[in-house]
Amino acid sequence: MKSALVTGAAGFLGYHICAQLLKEHYYVIGLDNFITGSPQNISDLKNAYPEKFYFANHDVSTPWEVWQNWQNSIPTECFTSLVSVFHFASVASPHLFDKCSLEILAANSQGLKNAIAFADQHKAQVIFASTSEIYGSSTQPLNENNWGYVNSFGPRSCYDEAKRFGEALIYSSNLVNNTQHGVVRIFNTYGPRMNPTDERVVQQFIKNALENKDFLIYGDGTQTRSFCYVDDLISGIIMYAQSKISDPLNLGNDHEITIVALAELIQQLIPCSSKIQFSNKRRDDPIKRQPELKKAYQMLMPWKPTVPLQEGVLRTIQHIKGVSSYAT
Ligand SMILES: NC(=O)c1ccc[n+]([C@@H]2O[C@H](COP(=O)([O-])OP(=O)(O)OC[C@H]3O[C@@H](n4cnc5c(N)ncnc54)[C@H](O)[C@@H]3O)[C@@H](O)[C@H]2O)c1
Repeated sequence: MKSALVTGAAGFLGYHICAQLLKEHYYVIGLDNFITGSPQNISDLKNAYPEKFYFANHDVSTPWEVWQNWQNSIPTECFTSLVSVFHFASVASPHLFDKCSLEILAANSQGLKNAIAFADQHKAQVIFASTSEIYGSSTQPLNENNWGYVNSFGPRSCYDEAKRFGEALIYSSNLVNNTQHGVVRIFNTYGPRMNPTDERVVQQFIKNALENKDFLIYGDGTQTRSFCYVDDLISGIIMYAQSKISDPLNLGNDHEITIVALAELIQQLIPCSSKIQFSNKRRDDPIKRQPELKKAYQMLMPWKPTVPLQEGVLRTIQHIKGVSSYAT
């Protein structure tokens, strides 16, 4: 028997990690305080795996000693067979950076420190959800040797610097305690179960098209992103955990597209009267985001993203239509 703990289990990626681990016969303990996560995700996991999925409502940035109490309601084997702690709890949507900046800083520092202490106690490996944002601004494809160009004192600093601190904390913990905790640098990922209110671009454009509302693009729309379908990302993350790698690794999809081209693709896929409107560029918004994935291809062979953007967007549209009252 193997078990894993997933923080941020009620969120977009946390849900999918739990679901995949449960499919692979792990026991899973989920942790979340629902700051952006969905109770529906937790009840879907509980209903599908009543004997294997356990959940605790907890803010990861506050002490985890309360575990002593929770241990009574979770089978002891879940703790004795713990192999991985996926630390994914963090607000991630840029439109919440102002409102939740202190929570973001706490979840990726004290919250991560708590996760590491818990994992060390159970001889498990932490997988820390870092981000492409640690690279900051760049005009080149990003590889793991790039040290980044990041503003430490601006509207995105709470997120970018929290993740950079998290990586440094993993590095130092490994050095001091001789552990092998790992870091995945996640590039823009989309798919079913993204939080419908969090305004990330794929989700937002789909919602707008379904409601015949105009698309709003910040800047002139020539900025690029590389979007990864969630199933591709999750298989990479789980392979990373199972390989016991601890080097930071880029994970995502390297197919690059401008934001205008993304808007046009969604206009083609959803017949709508939505037009594209432009607004001022957001401060510190990166102009290019493309991962170099050579290292991931070598270390996780045969992993590769396989879902083309159009196919992934269609699947996401189907999901959004199915879970909401959008008229077609
Ligand atoms: N989705 C992406 O494209 C992407 C890209 C790079 C990095 N990431 C990272 O992956 C992780 C998950 O992102 P997501 O897209 O699923 O976001 P999300 O908002 O859907 O999920 C985050 C989850 O963490 C929970 N959470 C936040 N702070 C918490 C706290 N203090 N205690 C307990 N729970 C807390 C939220 O309630 C939510 O359920 C984040 O760490 C994010 O930075 C995501």
